[in-house]
Amino acid sequence: ILHIGILGAMQEEIGNTINNLYNIEKKRYGDLTIVSGEIKIDKITKKKLFLSIAWSGWGKVSSARASTRLIGHKYKRTNIDFLLFTGVAGSVDSHVRQWDIIIADSLIQHDLDARPIFERFHIPVFNKDELSPKKEWLEWIFKTLNKNFESKKLKFFKNLYKGQIGTGDQFISNKKEILELKKNLPNLKAVEMEGGSVAQVAMQEGIPWVVIRVISDSADESASTDFSTFLKIYNKVSSNLIEVIAENY
Ligand code: ADE
Repeated sequence: ILHIGILGAMQEEIGNTINNLYNIEKKRYGDLTIVSGEIKIDKITKKKLFLSIAWSGWGKVSSARASTRLIGHKYKRTNIDFLLFTGVAGSVDSHVRQWDIIIADSLIQHDLDARPIFERFHIPVFNKDELSPKKEWLEWIFKTLNKNFESKKLKFFKNLYKGQIGTGDQFISNKKEILELKKNLPNLKAVEMEGGSVAQVAMQEGIPWVVIRVISDSADESASTDFSTFLKIYNKVSSNLIEVIAENY
């Protein structure tokens, strides 16, 4: 049995996933609810998969807290083996467009700055500034999505990339800010508000993790309207992404 923790920031990033679980258990931790259940994958081998699902709320603090809760959470006496964050992001690369998927091969907390004591973006506990998932988990997610990219469930999605994602407690919505970020982080593909903190907590707790982001907007002056419009549609299909991964492990 594999037990996957699935975290989003908003309900829309999780969508219908919970409806396909059975033996559901809900547990509350303060204002956070974790829903756990089983998905039966293979009728012949009866291979089972446990999922524990939550949405954290926006930003690094809420996502770090929810990650800690998920990592400590038990379903049928098992802890999670792997933490998957899934959600939307703003593109800061003109080649990366709405409905493209980016799997983070590196995450930077772009608002972390303890100069002059440490260099910009430096995370003292790891003595580095970029956090990367373990290769085998990254490749598993990439291959699974790539292999099923033409399937009905993933027909909404356009391109699949690996790349660098930036996390900060800021909704980016103008070109000037993008240029400012790219001056320091020329390889940055997308921005969001949770991935870097989820990755940090998972690494400190010794749990493998991957962050997946679907582009909702271009982090420019049209970001807030694009984001809101996109989320309404994304709510209906976000579970497809999670199910394709769950069903093909
Ligand atoms: N998530 C989705 N779009 C975003 C943006 N433009 N900035 C930060 N987080 C986002």
